[in-house]
Amino acid sequence: MKIIGTGSAHPKCAVTNQMLEQFLETTDEWITERTGIKERCVISSEKLEDMACEAAMKALENANLTPADIDFLICSNVVNEYVTPALSCIIQGKIGATCPTVDINAACAGFIYAMDIADDKLKAGKAKNILIVCAEEPSRMVSWKNRSTCVLFGDGAGAAVVTAGDELKAIRLTTSSLTEVLYYQRTLEPTPYISKEENFEPLVMRGREVFKHAVTNSNRDIKALLDQTGLTPADIKYYVLHQANRRIIDSIRNFLGVEEERVPHNVERYGNISSAALPALLDELNRAGKLQKGDKLVFSAFGAGFTTGACIIEWAM
Ligand code: ACO
Repeated sequence: MKIIGTGSAHPKCAVTNQMLEQFLETTDEWITERTGIKERCVISSEKLEDMACEAAMKALENANLTPADIDFLICSNVVNEYVTPALSCIIQGKIGATCPTVDINAACAGFIYAMDIADDKLKAGKAKNILIVCAEEPSRMVSWKNRSTCVLFGDGAGAAVVTAGDELKAIRLTTSSLTEVLYYQRTLEPTPYISKEENFEPLVMRGREVFKHAVTNSNRDIKALLDQTGLTPADIKYYVLHQANRRIIDSIRNFLGVEEERVPHNVERYGNISSAALPALLDELNRAGKLQKGDKLVFSAFGAGFTTGACIIEWAM
C-alpha cells in the first residue's frame, strides 16, 4: 500500500482558551500547561458531512483522481448526526462516487485501522484506489459544563487516498477492552417495554488512566514496529502521533530520544479531533512540502476501547 493523496478540513469557529474562561471555571494557563492546547475549531453552522467531503475532494485532487476512480471508501467516525445511514454513504453521494462504502469506529485509532483494512483489500486485488475519510465531531459528545473534558476536543476531517505499493513496511493494531476509562453513551428512544434502568451521560473520561495507557501503549507499539523492521528511531523522518495532549506527545518523544522537529504537532491549534488528527496533520506536512519521497514515517494513535494502531510507511509522492 502507498499513500497518493491527502486532504483536510476544519470548522471556521476557533474557540480559544480565553473564550472558555468566559463560561467555565478554567484558565488559559491551566489548559496550556496540562494539554498544550491554545484553541480548537468547533462545528457551528457547518455539517460534519460537508467537512468530510471537502477533505475527501482535496485528497482526490492531490492524488490526481476523481471520485469515479475510487473503488472502495472507508469512513472512520465515532459520532455524527446519523446512526443510519452510515456517514460513508452520505459522503459517497455528495462527492459523486459510486463504489461500496463502510464506516468503522476504532475511536481515535481509526485512521490506522482503516489503513489496515485498505491494505488487505489491495493485497487481495479487490480494489485499486481506496479513499479513507476520518470525520469527527467530539465536541458533540462532551458536556460543555464539564471543564475536565470539553476543553480537550475539537472537530475536523482528514482524508487519504491509497493504492497498491510496497511502502507500508509494518502495521500493528491492538484492542484491550477497557471500557470504563473512556466512554460516551448515546440516548436511545424509549419503548413501552424498557424495564432496566438507563442513565445516559455525556463523555466520561478517567484522564490520568487514559494518559498512562496512551503513553505506555504508543511506546510499546512504536518499539515493536522498529524492532520488526530493523529500523532505529533516528531512521524515521517524522513521528505522526495522535494529537490528544502535548504532554503525551512529549512523553513519547522522550522515550524515543528524538529531536523535537521529528515529532510535529498541531494539537495547540485544533485540540483532539479523534481519528481525523493523523490524516489532518499528515496533510499539513504534505502541503507544507515537508515530506520527500522515501521519507520513513511512523503513525501511532490510541483511542477509546482501548484501541491502538501504529505503522511505518514510506512517503511515495
Ligand atoms: N481547568 C481547571 N482545572 C481543571 C480543569 C480545567 N479545564 N480540568 C480539570 N481541572 C481540575 C480538576 O477538577 C482537579 O481539581 P481537584 O484537584 O480540585 O479535584 C485538578 O484540575 C486535577 O485534575 P486531574 O484530572 O487530576 O488533572 P491532570 O493533571 O490529570 O490533567 C488531563 C487532566 C489534562 C485530562 C490529563 O489527565 C490528560 O491529558 N489525560 C489524557 C486525556 C486524553 O488524552 N484524552 C483524550 C484521549 S481520548 C482519545 O483520544 C480517544
